[in-house]
Amino acid sequence: MGAEVRLLALLLTVLGGYLDLIVSTTTASARVERSVPPIHGASNNDWGHLQGVVRLRRLFCRTRFHLQINADGKVNGTRDDTAPNALLEMKAVDAGIVIIKGVKSGLYLAMNKRGKVYGSKKLRDNCKWYEIIEDNNFNTYSSVQHPKKRHRKGKEVKWFLSIAKNGRPRRGKKTKNTQRSAHFLPRHKSGRSRRRRDGMSRAQKRGKKQKN
Ligand SMILES: *[C@@H]1O[C@H](CO)[C@@H](O)[C@H](O)[C@H]1NC(C)=O
Repeated sequence: MGAEVRLLALLLTVLGGYLDLIVSTTTASARVERSVPPIHGASNNDWGHLQGVVRLRRLFCRTRFHLQINADGKVNGTRDDTAPNALLEMKAVDAGIVIIKGVKSGLYLAMNKRGKVYGSKKLRDNCKWYEIIEDNNFNTYSSVQHPKKRHRKGKEVKWFLSIAKNGRPRRGKKTKNTQRSAHFLPRHKSGRSRRRRDGMSRAQKRGKKQKN
């Protein structure tokens, strides 16, 4: 992607965040935005006024599924962009940390210690997710609680939310932030994404022959 397109995409993201959250002032630079991106438009030290803000969204994966939390606690992907189980409440609970609740099922998106993604009745620490805007402008969501061992051979280990091309979440240890299956765009309730519409349609086309 060209530097200008990138900058434009980032600007749109930031603007979208402002409108979205009705935040009028922030001085977050692009760098802060990327490294500590609690919610679009908030920097680390001014996120407080965003705490508790609920966004009604669908999480569209780059594998062309919408994440859904079913009533039985099973989490998987659906191609139907109006699926009731795919409507989610996303709420900031700390800087860069969100909880995600299925509107219909009332269940919280959680990851257990084995890296399995499921819908939890109770709101526990394993329902917290780091929300990061990656350099490609997609969001990734990694479990705050798991794995417990955060380092392996000196490297940081994170387990990501993902929907593989078979429509099922991958086990945490099989995930990486570079996989398409771990890339998401939060879309508005209506199903349209505010962010990178052009990029998204390209991704959708590519989705047909992609590997994860
Ligand atoms: C997702 O899970 C539900 C059951 O919870 C099932 O009815 C549905 O067919 C599954 N969808 C996919 C794409 O696997």
